[in-house]
Amino acid sequence: MGATAATNTSNKISNFPVFNILSCILNSLSNLLMTTLTKTSRVHIDELVNKLRALPASAFDETETVRSLLANTPVDEASLASYLTWDQQHYTRNLIDKTVLYELIAICWDVGQGSSVHNHRDQNCWMAAPVGKLLVENFHVGFEDSKAGKCHLEASNTVELTAANPCAVDPREPVHRVINPRDANQRAVTLHVYSRPFDSCVVYSPEHGTCGDIRLHYTTAFGKPVARPQ
Ligand code: SIN
Repeated sequence: MGATAATNTSNKISNFPVFNILSCILNSLSNLLMTTLTKTSRVHIDELVNKLRALPASAFDETETVRSLLANTPVDEASLASYLTWDQQHYTRNLIDKTVLYELIAICWDVGQGSSVHNHRDQNCWMAAPVGKLLVENFHVGFEDSKAGKCHLEASNTVELTAANPCAVDPREPVHRVINPRDANQRAVTLHVYSRPFDSCVVYSPEHGTCGDIRLHYTTAFGKPVARPQ
């Protein structure tokens, strides 16, 4: 009898529009919570490496697959410990993984450090920031004569690089620089995926209208210091 009465009451409540609205709101909140928890739970760097290694070659020829992999696989800072090195004069480049398809590098930026304005030799590049909030300043190349070392660049836009906002370098406008702003007053660590691996690039001085090739070096490779060539 009591059970029947309760069933009747609950039938009446579930028929009430407010009950349905509340139930919809609770469902949406629970979905949002699950999405947020999934997105923000950080993974070990090895998990990102395994996922990168599992990608087909075609994933490195466009930008969205790797960008969304980085967005959905935020890396835990602690798991990067053996790759983090600091230098007060210059940001450090620390190789984590390298295959014929890509290289994965952790870059450590002390407060106020930044890269030169540079290109990536027509290679694709993706960046994520497990630690810190950096700026990626993009440039439009109006004119470039590499042999003469002359160029004309104009700043185009600036993108914020954070854990929640990994970036893919736009292949149509790949010239950029990365800055860890002094006013952020914190060290930063970024992860860079380059495809295919490359060991030189062109650096530009937008102020002087000059450009030239430089070689790129690793500060450490697989957690061990790399001797700088003399
Ligand atoms: C670098 O690889 O040395 C520069 C970082 C970048 O990709 O912007």
